[in-house]
Amino acid sequence: MEVLQEERRQDGGAAGGPSGVEGRGDGRRSGGVILAAENVSLAFGGVKALSDISFDVREHEIRAIIGPNGAGKSSMLNVINGVYTPQKGRIMFRGQPFARMNSHKVAQAGVARTFQNLALFKGMSVLDNIMTGRSLKMRSSILAQMVRIGPALKEELAHREVVERIIDFLEIQNYRKTPVGRMPYGLQKRVDLGRALAMEPSLLLLDEPMAGMNVEEKQDMSRFILDVNDEFGTTIVLIEHDMGVVMDISDRVVVLDYGRKIGDGRPDEIRDNEDVINAYLGVNH
Ligand SMILES: Nc1ncnc2c1ncn2[C@@H]1O[C@H](COP(=O)(O)OP(=O)(O)O)[C@@H](O)[C@H]1O
Ligand SMILES: [Mg+2]
Repeated sequence: MEVLQEERRQDGGAAGGPSGVEGRGDGRRSGGVILAAENVSLAFGGVKALSDISFDVREHEIRAIIGPNGAGKSSMLNVINGVYTPQKGRIMFRGQPFARMNSHKVAQAGVARTFQNLALFKGMSVLDNIMTGRSLKMRSSILAQMVRIGPALKEELAHREVVERIIDFLEIQNYRKTPVGRMPYGLQKRVDLGRALAMEPSLLLLDEPMAGMNVEEKQDMSRFILDVNDEFGTTIVLIEHDMGVVMDISDRVVVLDYGRKIGDGRPDEIRDNEDVINAYLGVNH
């Protein structure tokens, strides 16, 4: 992973160049706060999944959420995503509270996500799966789309073009007609990322995009996440177990343990945080 990071530093001029954005690792090129969790608490019956969690995400950064299994990471994403409404606290997005949100409204606001367990249509092609990410952007009725008449046909072609660009970007051209269920697992995760990208989100939530991957697949996925961040300026919230990956690609890290926040800072600060080390080594539990 260090190799990956070194390569990126060397071509950092190109990545940061025309947009005038500073490179990663030099006091951050991220902007103002785009998303904030404010004192969020969420319980399922007696289980406190999240206890008084606050953190912010700045525009254009890669913000990691880490922690042992059951720490509340996916629950946190589900609160941001409007799937769960917290009993206490709130989510602010671009300075506005995300009140009474649902997944559809959150998506319309420009937030897309991928899932810890793949939620793709296994029998459908790569192209059609990624196309489902465009559905929010489609104006024609479903019926008009089905019979492909008039404006609907034109619209479909425009959406297809976007999807084809995403397929090229993710380097899965050879699979565009392949049913997703027949692809290697690592590539299926890439299709899931493509489906989220098809929504053209300003904020992308990734729930363990590298779980179950081998080292090479992880390196590929890390590169695509960094490229999305660099080329599209997308802000990314990333849940990840692999500490090496987190240290390499994230700007700042939130650490959860048993629903509590036990750390928040730059990767190097987190690595030296005693509470974090203890949580990972299982001390005190
Ligand atoms: N839908 C749910 N119903 C009941 N308990 C849940 C639900 N989702 C999560 N939990 C519980 O909340 C805690 C946090 O889970 P989760 O957010 O999935 O953790 P992580 O993603 O960090 O592994 C766990 O104890 C889990 O069992
Ligand atoms: Mg999880």
